[in-house]
Amino acid sequence: MELPAFNARTLRQGRSWRWAVLAPGEIAADFTRTLHGNSSHRVVAVGSRSPDRARAFASKFGVDRSYGSYDAAVADGAVDAVYVAAPNRFHAELALLAIDAGKPVLVEKPFGVNAAETARVARAGEQAGVFVMEAMWTRYLPQFRVLSEILQRHDLGDVHLATANVGWKVAQDDTENRLFSPELGGGVGLDMSVYGLWFTRFVFGQPTAVRAAGSLTPRGVDDQFVAALAFGPRRHATVSASMLVTNSGYASVHGTQGSVEFIDYFVFPSRMRITVNGKTSEWDDGTGLKGRDGLVWQAVAMAEYLEQGRLQSPVYPMSESIALAQTLDEVETQLRAANGHERNALELHGSPAGRMVRGQPAMPYAPTTVPLAGAGPLVQRSLMAETNSPNAGSAVSGL
Ligand SMILES: NC(=O)c1ccc[n+]([C@@H]2O[C@H](COP(=O)([O-])OP(=O)(O)OC[C@H]3O[C@@H](n4cnc5c(N)ncnc54)[C@H](OP(=O)(O)O)[C@@H]3O)[C@@H](O)[C@H]2O)c1
Repeated sequence: MELPAFNARTLRQGRSWRWAVLAPGEIAADFTRTLHGNSSHRVVAVGSRSPDRARAFASKFGVDRSYGSYDAAVADGAVDAVYVAAPNRFHAELALLAIDAGKPVLVEKPFGVNAAETARVARAGEQAGVFVMEAMWTRYLPQFRVLSEILQRHDLGDVHLATANVGWKVAQDDTENRLFSPELGGGVGLDMSVYGLWFTRFVFGQPTAVRAAGSLTPRGVDDQFVAALAFGPRRHATVSASMLVTNSGYASVHGTQGSVEFIDYFVFPSRMRITVNGKTSEWDDGTGLKGRDGLVWQAVAMAEYLEQGRLQSPVYPMSESIALAQTLDEVETQLRAANGHERNALELHGSPAGRMVRGQPAMPYAPTTVPLAGAGPLVQRSLMAETNSPNAGSAVSGL
């Protein structure tokens, strides 16, 4: 079986893009480290709520300029692109800041705290003609280019089943952790399950039904759930997410002629066990990049899309981010109903700050109102092929 080959050296060959990083926390550090270590890109500006934190980050990572506000970093004329690395609750607001400044923006996952907010920012990007992309970095890892090809070629036969599990234990007494905070957009749904739900979209496309069971903390964020999803007849998937336990990060996809199983945590650069017609082989990307080194692939892909004049990612456009958020909205609604916790206005419509930045009122998301800006016929075709998703529609009731 011929599969694509990868070489990390190619990551260093492109033009040197100049990035601003907003909100210098843990993931911003990992992003900057791998960009500087593994690509031709540079983080040239950092914006923090605190000038001291911005300075400390800049000095630690060799970033030219530090700013004590997000606005100032975005306004830096030498910045080509912006990376939003704040807690979930502020993604939309900071994405709008970049859009308003006319800067292409890569927004940490989840793009927004719900579908309405995600759609609002997607619309703003389209209206302004500014590139917008969710940092669903796993999608850009070599293993998913390979799996995409395997699915396109129908190597596994008719695919019927997929599963994906994401779980990292968070100490219960770590009460300051953003994952426990409703105000910061905590919970396993927004923080972890997006990877698993994305994986099932990658394999099957839009679910036709979802059923979830799980638990909430006393403050009303979900700490664990399992979801069963249907994608039309005889296509099913399970997704689990937990901060009560750490799990194997297992993901797999099974067809009538074979299967692909991730040997390592599927979210990170991972080996795969590929079985076709009874023959099993192990695949490794061969680049030596491990863990969050892999964040570099999405940045290099985004630069390529910008150089092609696109306004969205061809393999994970905003319509995908919105559709995934819709599924997650449904999961959250079911979890809250089962646990006697109705969703409040913040959970349903996103942060007031995100609404106020552009003076747009919160609107319920109307499916299919966000076309694939900048996505020509080629993009549409590759999307259909890459997601292997013949099942359109957005109904989410009754498996
Ligand atoms: N791709 C991945 O593998 C991955 C992994 C972890 C996290 N993430 C995502 O990355 C985002 C950030 O996560 P993280 O773990 O890096 O968080 P973190 O370490 O807590 O850093 C977040 C930063 O956001 C800024 N911030 C702005 N408003 C804040 C507020 N009200 N409270 C706290 N911090 C605030 C802070 O920087 P300043 O105050 O200095 O501006 C803080 O350092 C989340 O959306 C998460 O889902 C992605």
